[in-house]
Amino acid sequence: MTLLDVTASTTTTETTPTRTHDAVGTANTRVEGIAKVTGQARYAGDIPFAELAHGWLVLSTVARGRIRSIDAEPVLAMPGVLAVLHHENAPRLKPGVGLMGPDASTLLLQDDRVPYRGWPVALVVAETAEQARAAAEALVVTYEEEPHDVVFTAGHPGAYTPESSRFVQPDVERGDVEAELAASAVVVDEEYTTPEQYHNAMEPHAAMARWEDGRLEVVDSNQGSHAVAQLLAALFSLDGDSVRVRSEHVGGAFGSKGFNAHLILAVMAATQLDRPVRVVLTRRQMFSLVGYRPATAQRVRLGADADGRLRALDHESVSLSSALQQFVEASTRHSRALYGADALRVRTKVVPLDVGAPSFMRAPGWAPGSFAVESAMDELADKSGEDPIRLRVRNEPAVAPGSGLPFSSRNIIACYEEGARRFGWADRDPRPGTRRDGRWALGLGMAASAHSAGVAPATASITAEADGTFTVRIAAADIGTGARTALILIAADALAVPKESVRMKIADSDFGPAFLAGGSMGTTSWAWAITEAAVALSKKVVPGDPIPPEGIMARADTTELVGGREQRESLGFGAQFAEVAVDVATGEVRVRRMLGVFAVGRVVNPTTARSQLIGGMTWGLSMALHEEGVRDVASGGLANADLAAYHFASNADVPVIEADWVDDPDTYNPSGIKGLGEIGIVGGAAAIANAVWHATGVRQRHLPIRLDRVL
Ligand code: MOS
Repeated sequence: MTLLDVTASTTTTETTPTRTHDAVGTANTRVEGIAKVTGQARYAGDIPFAELAHGWLVLSTVARGRIRSIDAEPVLAMPGVLAVLHHENAPRLKPGVGLMGPDASTLLLQDDRVPYRGWPVALVVAETAEQARAAAEALVVTYEEEPHDVVFTAGHPGAYTPESSRFVQPDVERGDVEAELAASAVVVDEEYTTPEQYHNAMEPHAAMARWEDGRLEVVDSNQGSHAVAQLLAALFSLDGDSVRVRSEHVGGAFGSKGFNAHLILAVMAATQLDRPVRVVLTRRQMFSLVGYRPATAQRVRLGADADGRLRALDHESVSLSSALQQFVEASTRHSRALYGADALRVRTKVVPLDVGAPSFMRAPGWAPGSFAVESAMDELADKSGEDPIRLRVRNEPAVAPGSGLPFSSRNIIACYEEGARRFGWADRDPRPGTRRDGRWALGLGMAASAHSAGVAPATASITAEADGTFTVRIAAADIGTGARTALILIAADALAVPKESVRMKIADSDFGPAFLAGGSMGTTSWAWAITEAAVALSKKVVPGDPIPPEGIMARADTTELVGGREQRESLGFGAQFAEVAVDVATGEVRVRRMLGVFAVGRVVNPTTARSQLIGGMTWGLSMALHEEGVRDVASGGLANADLAAYHFASNADVPVIEADWVDDPDTYNPSGIKGLGEIGIVGGAAAIANAVWHATGVRQRHLPIRLDRVL
């Protein structure tokens, strides 16, 4: 039985059952699970539309320059071809529209400039996808090439700083870092680097656009229908109400399904042809069009007394960005949140190069930042002869080090203790290179984990139906996480009805503003709005009175509630543990087990929460050992833009990974929820790198930990 198919056999209404709050916290499989595994769930690329035409992208083959010519005539004569859109005939767009503020990468087909290799220079539209592809591949485009710069270095002279760009987070400087370092008994001063990492959601990006009765209708794969609708309206200078975006099922997103080129081009083509048009990205095209985690170079300096108490923490992070958009990989978030040093200094720079715009990838900033800082803390533990967990506990801050704000709750010590107990940390010999299993050198490592757990405004409505069921409408997105199911549990408890009585309608911009499935803020934000709508509904429904045939609807908007809270720093915390085996002859690293223990507020659905955490930890393993986008300096493109050459963890690389949580009561928001979609990746790579050091005595400061870096 799926909850979405609830049909009542009676018109009896029962709106005031005894109040029960027993759905949240129980283990539930996804309500749409059967539909997904039987192929009934349709994704944006699967849904049939009458008169659908298909667009195929043509991407630039030079890294910088100008388009000299596009020879559309021969291609227009090919079978089924309907149009070739390019900078000379495409609809005009409004500049300055982007998910994160002004973004020149949304200005597609507006001029002859080529800002990076893989930039869309044309869209070919045809009756079938195959015809469009054949024509796109036959289209001859010539360029005036200009020299390009795609080489990222920390000392790049063109770097933007907080002084030269408003997009770069301001520095934090508290206390005198240099003086504290000079007075320290133990100092760590190292550079850590992380490479470009590429988004590869299981479902490639797809978007269908059509005009229906004066409204632009879009079916795509996104993380927030309302936000996408608003951005499209702005970009195409349309009235906000005239755009409707839906995205019922999404096969993974992780930050990559915000506002992408193929969607904008589908709308352009549908407008010009007055016909439904769909554009689907290929796996290779995803490598240049959906964002990626930029490379970082981070210098971390720690100064401590002989007993490991931190006097100074200095963290400078430089990340790669694009000339089109200054995306900042905010790696210093980790050092702003974790440790209480007498003096703290964090500084961020970005290096704009002739590459596509980087974007959010699961735990932006936190993931690479935790690799650097948690590796440095492990080096400090070794240098000061202190246990890595005791060192961290000794440096617990009283307030958030970056902001000075109190934490809404901080149960990280419980995570350390529970993790250490379950992982057998007490038996670890701190000396590196002391344990062997035949040709394998064994090591244990750990790292701290944290992620912001904020909340943002949303609107929700609930209708009490005449049949005794309830319909919830909210423009939430379920990107595969089980959000829809979690929200059913929330609504059931808020309404004090069985979960089977709740019908959850999501992912439709017509349901009103709602925060994205992103920033680990989705479930928390949506839950608050749904709970408020339930309260509003309970005031409208008179117990004992029948519900009219059209139902009774109540609506809530949490904008004021969210804005009116006391200032706190709300974060989830955790501790990650890894055991690795390193082949002393080849340098091969195998992770034997991982354990993550987290403090993530109230857990709505243990089944999908555990999946989220394990998924994040798996990505941490993949980040530690495999993932690396390799720039080809000569062409300016990626040398490994497909899943044959871009390595990532496969099943055989992933051992038993356990994730669990400790009690973490927190009333920062009334639901008590802290988002946990991202925290699983934070600290994972450092725990593995620290374990590799423990096995071998060789520090791993550069990801991924390739064979050639191990021995
Ligand atoms: Mo995410 S990287 O918050 O979509």
